[in-house]
Amino acid sequence: MIGNRTFTMIKPDAVENGHIGAILEKITAAGFKIVAMKYTQLSKRDAETFYAVHNERPFFGELVEFMTRGPIVAAILEKDNAVEDFRALIGATNPADAAEGTIRKLFASNVAENAVHGSDSDENAKIEGDFHFSGREVF
Ligand code: PPS
Repeated sequence: MIGNRTFTMIKPDAVENGHIGAILEKITAAGFKIVAMKYTQLSKRDAETFYAVHNERPFFGELVEFMTRGPIVAAILEKDNAVEDFRALIGATNPADAAEGTIRKLFASNVAENAVHGSDSDENAKIEGDFHFSGREVF
């Protein structure tokens, strides 16, 4: 149902730094239910497609390079008001601006390597979830 789901990725930096377990713990402790999840690695083409909306931005090449350099955890999360509540849980894009206790404040290195992705709208949550998961992978 639109409105109660969001899509997230634990990005390569957080995976490399051993934070998968701690981040999933924060997510479930905040009341999100995991309805789909996989450990995977994006190809260059996947990342360019996923982030196509940003392809004119100066950091696009760097973003694609970063997001493809190692495995990620992709997941669909369910909770009332999921998109907004999850963005509050992860904190600002730049961890230097993120509130205390947020996932990016705790686990992100910098604005480019910021540990987690969270969808920015219900519409994009659906598009992004469908990009990564088939119907029989969502519970
Ligand atoms: S947001 O959260 O969409 O409002 O943030 P935005 O600033 O629009 O950034 C979009 C995605 O680009 C990443 N980003 C960067 N990557 C590399 N270098 C720089 N300087 C940079 N600034 C922003 C940012 O992490 C967002 O990725 P996602 O996966 O959407 O979080």
